Amino acid sequence: MKRTVTLIRGDGIGPEISAATLKILEAAGAEFEWDEQIAGLAAVEQEKDPLPQHTIDSIERTRLALKGPLATPKGEGYRSVNVALRQHFDLYANVRPVRTIAGVPSRYTDVDLVVVRENTEDIYSGIEHYVGPGRMAAESIAVITRQGSERIVRWALEYARKEKRKKVTLVHKANILKYSNGLFLDVGREVAKAYPDVPFDDMIVDATAMLLVKDPTKLDVIVTMNLFGDILSDLCAGLVGGLGVAPGANLGKDLAIFEAVHGTAPDIAGKGLANPTAMTLAGAELCDYAGQREAAGRVRSAVYASLGVEAERTRDLGGKADTRGFTDAVCRRLAQSRS
Ligand SMILES: NC(=O)c1ccc[n+]([C@@H]2O[C@H](COP(=O)([O-])OP(=O)(O)OC[C@H]3O[C@@H](n4cnc5c(N)ncnc54)[C@H](O)[C@@H]3O)[C@@H](O)[C@H]2O)c1
Repeated sequence: MKRTVTLIRGDGIGPEISAATLKILEAAGAEFEWDEQIAGLAAVEQEKDPLPQHTIDSIERTRLALKGPLATPKGEGYRSVNVALRQHFDLYANVRPVRTIAGVPSRYTDVDLVVVRENTEDIYSGIEHYVGPGRMAAESIAVITRQGSERIVRWALEYARKEKRKKVTLVHKANILKYSNGLFLDVGREVAKAYPDVPFDDMIVDATAMLLVKDPTKLDVIVTMNLFGDILSDLCAGLVGGLGVAPGANLGKDLAIFEAVHGTAPDIAGKGLANPTAMTLAGAELCDYAGQREAAGRVRSAVYASLGVEAERTRDLGGKADTRGFTDAVCRRLAQSRS
């Protein structure tokens, strides 16, 4: 029986990359039924609500979603739907694997990193206000809890053990933020004691940023808080060719939302230029999660093969293809491999 998955095509380039992804997943033999829903700007325009109840109900039912990027107004307007979804469904682990892809121009040839970002706490708790008259100052409160720290570090250690990774590095700024980051670090060290077989260390975030740029092979699995994870995961995507190739998963206890790491790319929306790789690789992760491992493997092989050919990869990666050209090339490869 086909597994039902909530599909949110998203804003900006979302509809273009979603259409490409669905085509590629189908060509790979993935077996899903899509329960299509809206959120973000599309939902504000149609229903004056960025996250309609029927969209939440659908994800509640299916326990699985594939989501395109959603626009968030900067500084004013509605709160980020991505953050709201993560908090509503308690999707506490944001997992972004980053690997060198042959043929995709980048500064390094041997990057293999996983960023595990705590997804519900920290400065993203939504507790913000102005102080004093006339917006003289503003405060944002970072909330770090023992329970939130414990489960994310445990997730990273379990993952490292299962996937036979080299080590886990907890990234923090506990030298300055002694309470919030200090708690995260202390809890992390306690949890790690139960995993003597998984090498574990910690590093200050600024030093980590430098090391990632100098020699990314020195790091393996990074586990960190929400804000640092947000920034470092984009930095890591930049090490392997950019946001256009980075998939992400938001995982909770028994519910998962898969997405591209990048945003809505308003500068190229509607021009047929978007690179659907990140969303398609998120689709491959979805296949894995749903137990459709063969389809996942087929998607990755075909996508990687097309990315290795200049005429087939998209222009953001120095190629010559547009969205349709890339999608058709990947689908042709899939058709050949399955015939
Ligand atoms: N997960 C999400 O839904 C998510 C993530 C980040 C940003 N956003 C939202 O997206 C909007 C735009 O944000 P931004 O401009 O800061 O970041 P962005 O990721 O949309 O764009 C940054 C740059 O990368 C390029 N780019 C991104 N994805 C691409 C792709 N698939 N193919 C080719 N080029 C691509 C864009 O053209 C742009 O030049 C904002 O409203 C932001 O809130 C959403």
